Parts: sequence; C-alpha cells; structure tokens
Amino acid sequence: MCHDTTGTYKKIPTGCGKEKEDLNLVKIAQSVGPPTRANCGACHWYGGGGDAIKHGDLDSTLKDPPYSHDVHMGGEDFSCQECHVAHKHKISGSSTTSAVSEGSVSCTDCHDEKPHSDEHPLLKKLNDHCNSIACQTCHIPTFAKAKPTLMFWDWSKAGKTMKVSQDDPYCITTHHKKKGLLIKKQNVRPDYAWYNGKHRQYLTGDSVNLDGITYLNSPVGDISDPKAKITPYKLFSGIQPADAKYEYLIIPKLWGGYWKHFDWDRAARDGMKAAGLKYSGKIKFVNTKMYWRINHEVVPKDQALSCTNCHSYDGVMDFEALGYKDDPAIVGCRFTKRTDHKEKVPIKKLKPKFWRSKKN
Ligand code: HEC
Ligand code: HEC
Ligand code: HEC
Ligand code: HEC
Ligand code: HEC
Repeated sequence: MCHDTTGTYKKIPTGCGKEKEDLNLVKIAQSVGPPTRANCGACHWYGGGGDAIKHGDLDSTLKDPPYSHDVHMGGEDFSCQECHVAHKHKISGSSTTSAVSEGSVSCTDCHDEKPHSDEHPLLKKLNDHCNSIACQTCHIPTFAKAKPTLMFWDWSKAGKTMKVSQDDPYCITTHHKKKGLLIKKQNVRPDYAWYNGKHRQYLTGDSVNLDGITYLNSPVGDISDPKAKITPYKLFSGIQPADAKYEYLIIPKLWGGYWKHFDWDRAARDGMKAAGLKYSGKIKFVNTKMYWRINHEVVPKDQALSCTNCHSYDGVMDFEALGYKDDPAIVGCRFTKRTDHKEKVPIKKLKPKFWRSKKN
C-alpha cells in the first residue's frame, strides 16, 4: 500500500487487510519506491466511504493539484512525508480523532513563528495575530474546494425509501436505504474554535445529551488559555441511535446486521452484546457533532484571510461566540484590553458606508 509505484496493489475493502487475488505481486515487488501522495491517499482520501467524505481537506485532487488548490502539494510538489516526517516508519502528525500519536507536525516546522514582514505596519499586524490565531485559519479560508465532503448524516432516515430534491450543486442531499439522509457540501467556510493541542473524546458508554447536542471530540481551550489558538474545523453533524434508558450511544451491528434486515432493535441488541454494554430496548435518535481539524489545501498568499475578512460587520468570525465582547479591533486583544475605544459603536451596529451615502 505504501511503496507500490505501479498503482495496481489493492486490498479488498471488507477483507480485513487481505490483498486482491489477481495481482502481479512479482512486478509490484520489483517496483517498490518511496511513498507517493497517491500511496498515502489510497487510504486517507477515501475514508468514511468514498473520495473526500471524511476529512474535508484530503481528497484525490491532491494526486496532482493545481497551485491554487494547495501551494505545497501543487506548487512545490511536496510528498505527504515532506511534512509528515517519518522516523523508523513512525509517521509524524497527530489526528483529530485518535489518541495515537507519533509526533506532531506544524506549519512552523518550516516557517517562522512570525513569517510576515516586520517592515510594513499591516504585515507586522499579521504577525501579532499569530499568538492567538493558527496559521491554517488565515491560510485555508475554505475547505473541500474541489470535491464535496460529508457534513451531515441522519441515521434515523435509514430503512425506508425517500426522494430528495437536488438543486444546489454545492450542497448535495442524497438518501440511501442503508445509510439514511446524507448532505455533502463543497467549498465550505470552516467553523472556528479555540484549540490548545488536545481534544476531548467520547468513549464507549459515556453519557449523551438526549435532548440537546453531544459533542464527540471537542477541542480543548478557550479565550483565557494562552496556549490555545483559533483553529479551523469541519464541524460534522450526525443524528444517531442512543439508548433512551441508559443514555449512551448505541453501537449497532450494521455489517451482516441492520444492512441486511433493517431492524434497529435487532441491530442494537446484537451490536451492544458484542460491545459488552447493556441495552434497554428503547432507542432514541440524538444529535451529535464531530470536529475534524483542517490542515491541508493551503491557498496562495493573495487569497489568505486579511484584515476586513474578519474585522467588518459581516466578517467570517463570530467574535462573541469565541468569547470576545465585540470585535477585538475595537475592544482589544484577549490579554490586553483597549480603553481608548470604549465609546465606539459596536461593530454589528455599523452599517456599510454606501448605505449612508445613498440616504444623502
Ligand atoms: C493502508 C492504509 C493507510 C496508508 C497507506 C496510510 N495510512 Fe495513515 N493512517 C491509516 C489509519 C487507519 C490511521 C488511523 C490510525 C489510528 O486509528 O490510530 C492512520 C493515521 C494517520 C495519521 C494520524 C496519526 C495518528 O497517530 O493517528 C497520519 C498523519 C497519517 N496516517 C499519515 C499517513 C501518511 C503520510 C501516509 C503515507 C506515507 C499514510 N498515512 C499511509 C491508514 C493508512
Ligand atoms: C504542508 C504540509 C503538509 C503536507 C504536504 C501534508 N500534510 Fe497532513 N497534516 C499537516 C499538518 C500540519 C497536520 C496537523 C498535524 C498535527 O497537528 O500534528 C496534518 C494532519 C494530517 C492528518 C490527520 C488528520 C486529522 O485531523 O485526523 C492526516 C491523516 C494527514 N495529515 C494526512 C496527509 C496525507 C495523506 C498527505 C499527502 C496526501 C498529507 N497529509 C500532506 C501538514 C501536511
Ligand atoms: C491573521 C491572518 C494570518 C495569520 C494568523 C497568518 N497569516 Fe500568513 N499571511 C496572511 C496574509 C493576509 C498574507 C499575505 C500578505 C501579503 O499580501 O504579502 C500572508 C502571507 C504569508 C506568507 C507569504 C509571505 C511572503 O512574504 O511572501 C507565508 C509564508 C505565510 N503567510 C505563512 C504563515 C504561517 C506559517 C503562519 C502561522 C505561523 C501564518 N502565515 C499566519 C495572513 C495570515
Ligand atoms: C515541510 C516544510 C513546510 C511545512 C510543514 C509547511 N510549509 Fe508552507 N511552504 C513551504 C515551502 C518550501 C514553501 C514555498 C517557498 C516559500 O514561499 O517560502 C511554502 C509556501 C507557503 C506559503 C506561501 C504561498 C505563496 O502564495 O507564496 C504559505 C502561505 C504557506 N507555505 C503556509 C503554510 C501553512 C499554513 C502551513 C501549515 C499548514 C505550512 N505552510 C507548512 C514549506 C512548508
Ligand atoms: C482571521 C481573522 C483575522 C484577520 C484576518 C485579522 N484579524 Fe485582527 N484580530 C483577530 C482576532 C481574533 C483578534 C484578537 C487577538 C487576541 O485576542 O489576541 C484580533 C485583534 C486585532 C486588533 C486589536 C489588537 C490590538 O493590537 O489592539 C487589531 C487592531 C486588529 N486585529 C487589526 C487587524 C489588521 C490591521 C489586520 C490585517 C493586517 C487583521 N487584524 C487581520 C482576527 C483577525
């Protein structure tokens, strides 16, 4: 999988790692080489059931991307391991969802902590922002630029046949009897959250919020945490089965189970037995959200977010949700309050200037 350069080595997706039968293994063995992006991508671009589905910033476009899609893998023709430096087959780079880590990768492994010129006042201002804002936030303004990624999955609609209408090419709704209702989106603006290098993790048997939203892996950090930075995420929403009495998520038996008989009760009973958890017989579908950190698809510098993309009445960032009283350009940074601007109008009440001039 990692070293074949013929592009023919394939595993059986449901075969527990077994390779396909009709392979020319001699030719493959004679053609091994350092991993190409397609080698790593054979697994990482197709997670979650298809191209671009899982991550939002990793899909087969990265096989041969234009510079405008990704400056490193397009422009510089970087391999994955150029950033994910490996030592003795330990591939660095921590993931959003798994606790396993073989070292981390960061933009500042190669770039300066303050990469913008100090000589110009506005570029210097960008450097000041680097204490509180991750590089990715400004340099990956949207994700899933070339292929739609899965954003919403409603399991409660599985088991029946449904018709869905299709009108927006950037927001695609489909329905499958096995999976339920799915919404894929392309060219998506990330959600922003404080992140200090750790994520919480929902574990088997943890309690769920039966009436509200259960966050499965929220980032750790907030405005008062000096280590945390505002970081871009794909925020994935799900509706999935929970046990209404024991108040935890159900692990249904899908393969050879629900996908064969379409009976949630039976799938829950078999799945929970295998997982070693009690099942009350009462199912409630609950809302869950899952975070996926965005690290790839860095765009050319002239497309990075700049001053008024954030500091304006319709900026991309919800400063209040992030813990600021108002736009920090008015009220000051999190650790240095501004007192001279107290009397200014809150940014949300500002009207764009041409409205005023029209009145005149
Ligand atoms: C055969 C499939 C496969 C191939 C090929 C593959 N990976 Fe992975 N990779 C995985 C799986 C599965 C995980 C999740 C492991 C886990 O749950 O800890 C993973 C995890 C990762 C992580 C997250 C690290 C972590 O500790 O969870 C990174 C980064 C990564 N892979 C990079 C790469 C790179 C770079 C290549 C190519 C050199 C590559 N992978 C090739 C299957 C693959
Ligand atoms: C320009 C540098 C760069 C390149 C090139 C790159 N990555 Fe990454 N990748 C990162 C960074 C930074 C992270 C975050 C890692 C961390 O926090 O330790 C990351 C994270 C990941 C993760 C974890 C995703 C998650 O959040 O669960 C995977 C998997 C991954 N990369 C796979 C790949 C694959 C496959 C390729 C090649 C197709 C690739 N990367 C190319 C910089 C890069
Ligand atoms: C607040 C937004 C913001 C943050 C945070 C940010 N950048 Fe930038 N960056 C920009 C903008 C805007 C430009 C384009 C500036 C210009 O027009 O020259 C830029 C330009 C660059 C350039 C090109 C510089 C040049 O002189 O050609 C690099 C490299 C870069 N950034 C890397 C980074 C890295 C690495 C980080 C994190 C340590 C980071 N940036 C954090 C907004 C940001
Ligand atoms: C393995 C080293 C490496 C890593 C890791 C890395 N970069 Fe780069 N980056 C480069 C090189 C090399 C260039 C091209 C030369 C240059 O412009 O400095 C580049 C160019 C850039 C540019 C300039 C693009 C332009 O239009 O001129 C930006 C912006 C940038 N990187 C941002 C990032 C961000 C954000 C991350 C983290 C997600 C990152 N880089 C991770 C090596 C790296
Ligand atoms: C990605 C969104 C984003 C971009 C782009 C951005 N800012 Fe900010 N800005 C912020 C955030 C968030 C803070 C608060 C940082 C903190 O709390 O440390 C801030 C703080 C400020 C402050 C108040 C801090 C102070 O020093 O008084 C000013 C002024 C400011 N930004 C101006 C700018 C200018 C000028 C640019 C363009 C060169 C810019 N910002 C680009 C999000 C952004």
